[in-house]
Amino acid sequence: MPSVYLETYGCQMNVADTELILGHLAAHGWRPTTAPDDADVILLNTCAIREHAEARVLGRLGELARFKRRRPDVRLGVAGCMAQHLRDKLAARVPDIDLLVGPDGYRRLPDLLRADAADRDPHVGLRLDPDETYADLPVARAPGVRAWVTVMRGCDRFCTFCIVPYVRGRERSLPGPALVDDVRRLVAGGVREVVFLGQTVNAYHDRDWDFADLLRRTAEIPGLLRIRFTSPHPSDMTERLIDVMGTCPTVAPQLHLPLQAGSDRVLARMGRDYTVAAYDALVERLRERVRGIALSTDVIVGFPGEDEDDFAATEAVVRRTRYDSAFLFKYSAREGTRAFRWEDDIPDEEKGRRLRHLIALQEEISAAINRSLVGTEVEVLVEGAARRGEGWMSGKTPHLKTAVFPGPAAPGDLVHVRVEGATSHSLIGGLA
Ligand code: SAH
Ligand code: SF4
Ligand code: F3S
Repeated sequence: MPSVYLETYGCQMNVADTELILGHLAAHGWRPTTAPDDADVILLNTCAIREHAEARVLGRLGELARFKRRRPDVRLGVAGCMAQHLRDKLAARVPDIDLLVGPDGYRRLPDLLRADAADRDPHVGLRLDPDETYADLPVARAPGVRAWVTVMRGCDRFCTFCIVPYVRGRERSLPGPALVDDVRRLVAGGVREVVFLGQTVNAYHDRDWDFADLLRRTAEIPGLLRIRFTSPHPSDMTERLIDVMGTCPTVAPQLHLPLQAGSDRVLARMGRDYTVAAYDALVERLRERVRGIALSTDVIVGFPGEDEDDFAATEAVVRRTRYDSAFLFKYSAREGTRAFRWEDDIPDEEKGRRLRHLIALQEEISAAINRSLVGTEVEVLVEGAARRGEGWMSGKTPHLKTAVFPGPAAPGDLVHVRVEGATSHSLIGGLA
C-alpha cells in the first residue's frame, strides 16, 4: 500500500479537510503514516491568511526539498489555501513541488497521485468548484471525545483584508439531514461534543433549514452532550439562532464573535457590514438571552488608515465587552484582496505596539474572569491526560475553558471540578 504523510497548517477547517483527505485517500488504498521517512507522498495542507502563515510553510518546504534530494522518489504536494493563492508562483519558487491542489480539488487527489499522473495539466487540482461539498466522501476522524464537522464551505463576504473568499470560493452548505445522521453515527462511536465548522458558519442554509434548524435537530441526538460552532459572522446572528442558543441546553453557552475593529470608519473600510453600535447591541442581546455566555473574538490591528483614535475605539470595545479570550493579529496585506491596493501605512513597529498593548489588556481581562471562578464548581467534559503530571486529566467547561485536575476520570466523562486556581488560559482544581 502506498503511504501518505500529511502536515496541517491554518484553521480548524484545514484540520477537518486533512481528515477528509485522509479518509478519501484511505478509500483509494492509501495508508497514512506519521513518519515522513516512511512516506511515498508528503502533503502539506496550508494556510494563506497572513504572510506569516505562508512564510512558515515556505520554510518547511525548503527543509522538505532538501529531504527530497536524499529521497528523490518521494513526491511532495502542497494542498489547501496557500496552493490556491500562490499557484504557479509557489511551484516556481519551490521547483521540488510535484503537485498543487486547492480546497476544491481533493476529490481528484487519488487520481492526481497516481504514478502516471505527472504529465497532467498541473492546474487541474486548482479549479474552484461552487458545488463541491465532499458530502459523500468518507472522513478519517481522529478518535476522541470531540469531532469537528464541516457544515459549509467557502465565503461570500469578501472582507477587504481577507483572502478566504478567493482561495475557498463561494459559500455552499452540506445537506442538513445527512449532517444530523453523521453526528448520530459519531455519537454512537463515542463522540460527546461536535463543533460545526464554516468560515461564516451561521450563514448555513440547506433547503428550508437555516443554521438554527441544524442546531436544533442535532441537539435532539441522545448521548450528544455539547454542540459548538465556529466562526459565525456577527451579521448572521439571527434571532432564531440566539433563541436556540438560549433555550437548548446542548448548545454550549459560548460564542466566537469576530469584531475585527472597534471603529466604524475602519469597519466600513474592512467591508464588515455592521457598526460598533450594532455589535454592542448584539453582545447585549446575547448576554440577556444566553445566560453566562462566554465570548471570544478576533481583532486586526494596523489596518490601512487605522489612526490612534480608531485604535483607541478598538481598545474600548475590548475593555467593555470583556471577552473571555481573543485572537489578536497584525494586519498582513494579502495580494488579490481589495485592501492590498491601499497603502499598508502603519509601520510594523507601530502594529507591534498596538498588538502588545491589546494582548496585555486581554491577558488581564482573561485572568480576572478566570480568577472569579475560583471557589465555584464547573462541569468538565473530560478529554484526556493533562501534561501537568501523572494522573492529571484535562477537559473543557461549557464555556470552553480548559480545566485540569487530578483524576480519576476517563475521556468522555462529565465531571464536576471545584476550581482552586486560575490563569488567563486555564482553570486548576479537584474533583468536587
Ligand atoms: N470567517 C471568520 C474569519 C476567519 S479568518 C470571520 O469572518 O470572522 C480568522 C481571522 O484572521 C479573522 O477573523 C481575522 O481577524 C484574521 N485575518 C484575516 N485576514 C487577515 C489579514 N489579512 N491580516 C491579519 N489578520 C487577518
Ligand atoms: Fe474572511 Fe470576512 Fe469571509 Fe471571514 S467573513 S472568511 S473575514 S471574507
Ligand atoms: Fe487559513 Fe484557509 Fe483557514 S487561509 S485560516 S486555512 S480557510
